Amino acid sequence: MHIIIAKDKQDLGKKAAETVGMLLKKSPKANICLPTGNTPLPLYKELRNTFTNAEFTYIALDEYLGLDKHDPHCFSNWLAREILDPLDIPAKKRLLIDPSAAEADSEAKRHEKKITEQGGIDIAVLGLGHNGHIGFNEPGSAFKSPTRKVKLADRTRKANAAYWGGDINKVPHSAITLGLDILSSARQTILLVSGKDKADILQKSLAGPVAEDIPATYLQNMENVVVIADEDAASKLTQSR
Ligand code: GLP
Repeated sequence: MHIIIAKDKQDLGKKAAETVGMLLKKSPKANICLPTGNTPLPLYKELRNTFTNAEFTYIALDEYLGLDKHDPHCFSNWLAREILDPLDIPAKKRLLIDPSAAEADSEAKRHEKKITEQGGIDIAVLGLGHNGHIGFNEPGSAFKSPTRKVKLADRTRKANAAYWGGDINKVPHSAITLGLDILSSARQTILLVSGKDKADILQKSLAGPVAEDIPATYLQNMENVVVIADEDAASKLTQSR
């Protein structure tokens, strides 16, 4: 595991853009999974300003359930605004999850099958939840879990309320997430973490016991992982290294 420490959130964006840019230079047509959240925003800003000729295929990491696909809160629309539209990624190169799917389990299976048919995940860019979740794989998710419908933890809904005007009552209760099984098969994983509030969970994720109650610990068993953290998030990590 390679750990890169950035000075602050902006520097994290720069360093992440360098890493992602380098990988995409080597494999321009890579299948890349990208996260929502505040952490990757500086990365998307950098890529918008510096990246040209994007040819990658975007793979949805997770998506709320129970929303119309035009709802601006959908993760696919969030990513569209932040990165996919500005980089002109065509619709056929966006592997999305339908947030209005009536049969969530079959929608999850369809998404996973499509990724496999497409050749799997080349690059998984991920964020980290305060409870150690990856995508929406909440604590207790099996390391072999498939892409599936999940119930969101209260803590996750509270954190996500920020994206819903601060009103937790508006935050959906369920979602579809890529499972840890297919995420573990990614050829390259990049974990982005910023902020003091993530210092504890980052330390536990990278240096604590590997256990399903902290889903992000699956990364310890993987090769080709780059962690890019700002000094605040890495503060407890550096003490223990
Ligand atoms: C959400 C997403 C995750 C993301 C996490 C962290 O729950 N499903 O994929 O990593 O938030 O978000 P933030 O970067 O805003 O802390």
